[in-house]
Amino acid sequence: MTRTPDPIITNDFPVNLAVAARPAKLLACVRQVLPLPFYELPTTGQMRGDPVQFHPHKEDGLGTDADWDKWGEIDPYFGVLSSDEYRTENLNAESEAKFFRSGEEYIGQTLDEIRSHLDKNYHPERSLDFGCGVGRLLIPLAGLSKEAIGVDVSDHMLAEASSNCQKRNIQNVSLIKSDDDLTKLTGTFDLIHSFIVLPHIPEERGLALIEAMLRHLGPGGVVAIHFFYRCDAPKATRALVKLRYALPIANYARNLIRGRPMREPAMQLHTYDLEAVISLLSGAGVSSIYLRPYSEQGFQSVALYGQKSDATAPK
Ligand SMILES: C[S@@+](CC[C@H](N)C(=O)[O-])C[C@H]1O[C@@H](n2cnc3c(N)ncnc32)[C@H](O)[C@@H]1O
Repeated sequence: MTRTPDPIITNDFPVNLAVAARPAKLLACVRQVLPLPFYELPTTGQMRGDPVQFHPHKEDGLGTDADWDKWGEIDPYFGVLSSDEYRTENLNAESEAKFFRSGEEYIGQTLDEIRSHLDKNYHPERSLDFGCGVGRLLIPLAGLSKEAIGVDVSDHMLAEASSNCQKRNIQNVSLIKSDDDLTKLTGTFDLIHSFIVLPHIPEERGLALIEAMLRHLGPGGVVAIHFFYRCDAPKATRALVKLRYALPIANYARNLIRGRPMREPAMQLHTYDLEAVISLLSGAGVSSIYLRPYSEQGFQSVALYGQKSDATAPK
């Protein structure tokens, strides 16, 4: 993964809840009077139990969803892999081919890992790619499955994924706009897959999404998800990042300092409690789990593979 991540809001952030409530209330008041596009406040661990609840702004289009749709509109390939060669103005046949090749390689490795560690005869028939972006991983998944479903919160990303499937004459892909309960998803899947998506979603919301996905895991099905479970950045840096997520003006300032377009949206990054994810999996009947931990630019990540027991398999 090539990106320049920002340090994170972790769930071990030392915040006195009573104090945390005050800036949240203040921000809520400011939002009433200023028509600025305020981003959602992080709702991860440090805010848990806080009487002031901030949820993603589904109706008014603000929050990380709006940021992602903006990426889909202005720079979809850079939004997926943050390397300058994938900026819209730099994209050419060669860089586009490299972009899609990276997806084929990643899915090839994923299937190898599932076969080596969980099920040597594994062949998914129905696959889900959560946070499919422009189809980088969905397209190779479609090549391995009878049917592949891509879900994404950004209409612009979905439109680009659709165009990429059409260009390749791919007929077995459906694209679905995400919501937090995944209400538009039907049926069960042999593979539930997500890569570099959950880190961009605040933990509380992401855990609910994992739970919603797991409701669609069929017997013998495999879940392959990637997330961050720790940030190694100093606490002061994390505090600044938290400010930037909450105040667009702080984000504008950081963009200018880094020589980026001023209004370029943030790409929020969040950590997850590993134990909480594993407990969701075990509650959904996932009986074998394989974890591949690795570190990337200040974050501890994990690719987690789990297989649900197959009650229908002969003993
Ligand atoms: C970094 S891109 C990764 C795309 C793809 N997984 C890949 O690796 O090629 C993150 C994607 O997650 C999507 N996303 C962000 N929040 C989401 C949410 N709450 N539900 C579904 N998709 C989301 C974004 O729109 C974006 O397309």
